Amino acid sequence: MKINVLLSPNNVDDLYFTGKTTVVIDVLRATSVILKALENGAKEIIPVGSIDFAMKISVNSHGGHTLLCGERNTKIIEGFDLGNSPLEYTEEKISGKSIILFTTNGSKAIVKAKYSDKVIIASFNNLSKMAEHLIKLETDIEIISSGTNGIFCLEDTICAGALVKKMTKIKSDIELTDAANASLVLNEKYGSNIKMMMQNCQHGKLLLENGFDDDIEFCSTIDNIPLIPYFIGGEIKLLVEESTPSKEA
Ligand code: MLT
Repeated sequence: MKINVLLSPNNVDDLYFTGKTTVVIDVLRATSVILKALENGAKEIIPVGSIDFAMKISVNSHGGHTLLCGERNTKIIEGFDLGNSPLEYTEEKISGKSIILFTTNGSKAIVKAKYSDKVIIASFNNLSKMAEHLIKLETDIEIISSGTNGIFCLEDTICAGALVKKMTKIKSDIELTDAANASLVLNEKYGSNIKMMMQNCQHGKLLLENGFDDDIEFCSTIDNIPLIPYFIGGEIKLLVEESTPSKEA
């Protein structure tokens, strides 16, 4: 088993993912939002790569069962139902709803990984459960650190490092690429206080400036949502039981 960490999804072409098992991380805040929404009963999340496409597919949905959600520059997009703060995704607002999600980096990274055999969604909120699940798959793993505006960011890479660390504790003979080793080193340096790391990273500072202090608290919480979301057929849904959906299944 081998683990690679992509320090930005922009370093590779979409076809790079063909047949791979890919884990997407955007801890501030898209993948944390996805976990919160599914925990609170969202029917499915439909990640999209552009606002235009989000608008276009929302036109075909009927009866208030679909919500248009996401952010631009951390703020809710005009005409959308919800922004990209996990705390907005309450059971009352989203239970039973389909959520079309556009975010600057996270939803795009998920869409980019679409040719993978499996695409799985991770954040600090499901870290241990994710490590256990990935080990059981017994395949090589690509972890995407979604980054900020196409470039490296600390918080996603540290989450990747924390995931690699947990996996190597369960199984000692995993081969790590240089980037996976680098994520481990960064996690050793900054991972002892995740909340403080998030408050001091570039995107965390922007969120604080815009009043999203509580989001940092939520997104830095480890293992509070032990669920496994899979992106398959254009939709993100929770894994039911321990079956492992894939394109080949
Ligand atoms: C993103 O995808 O870039 C983020 O989730 C941005 C954010 O809402 O903080």
